[in-house]
Amino acid sequence: MSSDIFKLISKRRTVKPANFTEEEIPEAVLKEILESANWAPNHGRTEPWRFTVFSGKGRIKFQDLIEKIYNENPDVYPPEKLKKWQSNALLAPVIIAVGMKRTEACKIPLIEELCAVSAATQNILLTAEAHGVCSYWGSSISHLPGTAEALGLDGKDDCIIGFIHLGYAKDEVHDGVRKSSIDEKITWITE
Ligand SMILES: Cc1cc2nc3c(=O)[nH]c(=O)nc-3n(C[C@H](O)[C@H](O)[C@H](O)COP(=O)(O)O)c2cc1C
Repeated sequence: MSSDIFKLISKRRTVKPANFTEEEIPEAVLKEILESANWAPNHGRTEPWRFTVFSGKGRIKFQDLIEKIYNENPDVYPPEKLKKWQSNALLAPVIIAVGMKRTEACKIPLIEELCAVSAATQNILLTAEAHGVCSYWGSSISHLPGTAEALGLDGKDDCIIGFIHLGYAKDEVHDGVRKSSIDEKITWITE
């Protein structure tokens, strides 16, 4: 007997923007998706997650950002990648740039701040799923020099962890695949 949350977690799949319809995501749904991020666990109440949300014509600004950072970092990725990322930007009704802002003089280890932002991101994916909204976590230019600063994150260690593309799926979503079962990833110590 599976719990509702387990069913939701295991049903969520990455759906690429090429498989999104043009249907807009209602504002109330998007707000709840973002609000869910704010309830992620975090050490020391730092709440280090920050979001920039691109939609409508704002997506052209996202395309411009990708192009600017790509051009500032030549020879890292081939030009086909730039084209793909820019096309993804217009195929998704909403793109959320997920960032980590480290508190000044933060005593919490960097890895824990990143863990908190990852937890917030999973909340986004799952709340989207609960509303029938599909998601695609794309890295593209996230980790290139200049990206975090361009999105207003200019502190030491601040970073962008990825771009969450949201939209409704055109077709039925495929079943998930995992290379090995959870049993192979657990060590039980019982006595
Ligand atoms: C940190 C992170 C970065 C990712 N970056 C990319 C990416 O750049 N391109 C991509 O196609 N998928 C990316 N993904 C999505 C994975 O490909 C996807 O989660 C994986 O294939 C498992 O499929 P599922 O999400 O349907 O379970 C990323 C996922 C994570 C957690």
